[in-house]
Amino acid sequence: MCGIVGYIGNDNAAPILLNGLKRLEYRGYDSAGMAVWQKDRTIKLIKRTGKVSNLAACISIDKEDAGVGISHTRWATHGGVTEANTHPHVSWDQQIHLVHNGVIENYQTLKNSLESKGVTFYSETDSEILANLIAYNLQQLDGEITTKTVYKAILTSLTNVEGTYGLAIMCASLPGTLFGARKGSPLILGVGKNEMMLASDASAIRARTNEVVYLDDNQIVTLTEDNFSITTIEEAEVVPEISTISWKDEDAELQGFEHFMLKEIYDQPAALENAFRGRLDMGEGISKFGGLNLSRQDIRRIDRITIVACGTAWHAGLVGEYLIEKYSRIPVEVEYASEFRYRNTPMDKNTLVIVISQSGETIDTLEAQREAQRKGYHVIGIVNNVGSTIARENDGGIYQHSGPEIGVASTKAFTSQLLILAMLSIYLGRTRDLSYTDGCQAIKAVMELPNLVKQTLQLADSIKGIAKKFAHYDDFLFLGRLEMFPIALEGALKLKEISYIHAEGYPAAEMKHGPIALISEKCPSIVIVPDDETLKKNLSSVQEVRARNGKVIIITDSNEIPSSLADELIIVPKAHDCVRPVLMTIPLQLLSYYIALELGRDVDKPRNLAKSVTVE
Ligand code: M6R
Repeated sequence: MCGIVGYIGNDNAAPILLNGLKRLEYRGYDSAGMAVWQKDRTIKLIKRTGKVSNLAACISIDKEDAGVGISHTRWATHGGVTEANTHPHVSWDQQIHLVHNGVIENYQTLKNSLESKGVTFYSETDSEILANLIAYNLQQLDGEITTKTVYKAILTSLTNVEGTYGLAIMCASLPGTLFGARKGSPLILGVGKNEMMLASDASAIRARTNEVVYLDDNQIVTLTEDNFSITTIEEAEVVPEISTISWKDEDAELQGFEHFMLKEIYDQPAALENAFRGRLDMGEGISKFGGLNLSRQDIRRIDRITIVACGTAWHAGLVGEYLIEKYSRIPVEVEYASEFRYRNTPMDKNTLVIVISQSGETIDTLEAQREAQRKGYHVIGIVNNVGSTIARENDGGIYQHSGPEIGVASTKAFTSQLLILAMLSIYLGRTRDLSYTDGCQAIKAVMELPNLVKQTLQLADSIKGIAKKFAHYDDFLFLGRLEMFPIALEGALKLKEISYIHAEGYPAAEMKHGPIALISEKCPSIVIVPDDETLKKNLSSVQEVRARNGKVIIITDSNEIPSSLADELIIVPKAHDCVRPVLMTIPLQLLSYYIALELGRDVDKPRNLAKSVTVE
């Protein structure tokens, strides 16, 4: 939540910052601003409410701009969407300019204390306290303002704040220096040729360099255009580890698609292939993972699995529960990360914890992981974002390799998570009861999946037509059984997120226990009907809806369902049950996308949401 970009180098900072903000806009789009050094050694401050495009509209190439600046795109937490609350915040004495991602929990106490000392505040944000506190502490250090004194003032201030922060800071008396700091909110340092950058994630940096340093919590970085140094908050020097970003800048571009969500839906065949490349062993009928850090013996000892995640990733976890239990017979629990971290769930000694997160930065998932590790459990992550905090802190993991996902509504990351969980089920199953023949069949199904997804995507035009007919309903029910129940939940979430239509997902048979009261000609149902032992039962649910004048869209892989049974029938290709959830998901993604489009919604930046939820 909130995106930070800082630049120091030879080029004009403003367009670089703007480009970075555009790349980070999915983290928040309530307002945006930047502070840029001028050649006359003053700092120009520009802020606008609304999207980054509003800020862009008032920024032109200015020869007076120098090569140093900081910028921010905001997802409001404390204080409304106003220019005063927009970052950068400037200290009352005009010394400290700062952008912040995170929440300062003790800001009110600190604010009261500074106000009693004559410090003035201009915004309602928690972030402004940081600017004023650093400036105040700087004033207490008599003498010339130098890199050392500003660093000291930052250090003293940060030891007094409670909460989380990713920060980029400039001081009006130090034109050639930037500072960054991180605790609980991501911050990456980009190391270029005679230039350095700071950003909340790699997408803002990739256009300038592919060399990055992932800062850890409680670290402070001092940057000049050709050098940087990192210390801990205890002033210990840190030896930096430079990593390389593996994806290309174009991967985070629209590439001719109207929206990132649509592009990412169409990215899925490639993303799925990336998820299984090098991980399948047809000869042994097994999948393999290099980074679990568990021996075969460790795997055999696991007697329970707890999966922890949020939102769409939690839905993937629920599908994982069905698949892992089916193939390996290991009991699985799935918990919301936000509950798990506070709940003190009783767990068995040999429990394996799996966290799932596209961004690898979701604060609840990260804290749940830390809580599990504190209790001594081995935690593995299924994570997309390479180098993210969850990926760096866990005990082992599986990278998704889905490429950057920019659309706020998760699509390709979800189906990649489903595929990885299917492969993990096969792996766990093969260390137990799953036979060689069954393993081989499942592995073959994984290999065939990208082609089946391509075929399913050919349904897009007909789904667009269905979306036009159904876009004006206010309520939807999504129904499915067994592993299709979480797919129903995901379908409902996608529709809610981007079209703002009320939608609920239910296990199909549960409908009779309450939700059936909602059924009328005004509330359509989307029923997922796999061609398996649940088919007849699902069709009974369809009949029950139609008996109450409810419209029905069936998504199925059966060719035997008469079209008269539904208002719309969407038939996807048949596949092995370990990958079937992926194929059933695609029509739901397309349906929500086209409904949102029909309603004129901002598909990639739906109201109130942000891609990566890094505050509690
Ligand atoms: O980055 P994560 O996978 O940890 O994110 C978890 C959720 O915030 C995320 O899946 C959210 O529900 C998406 N907007 C769903 O489309």
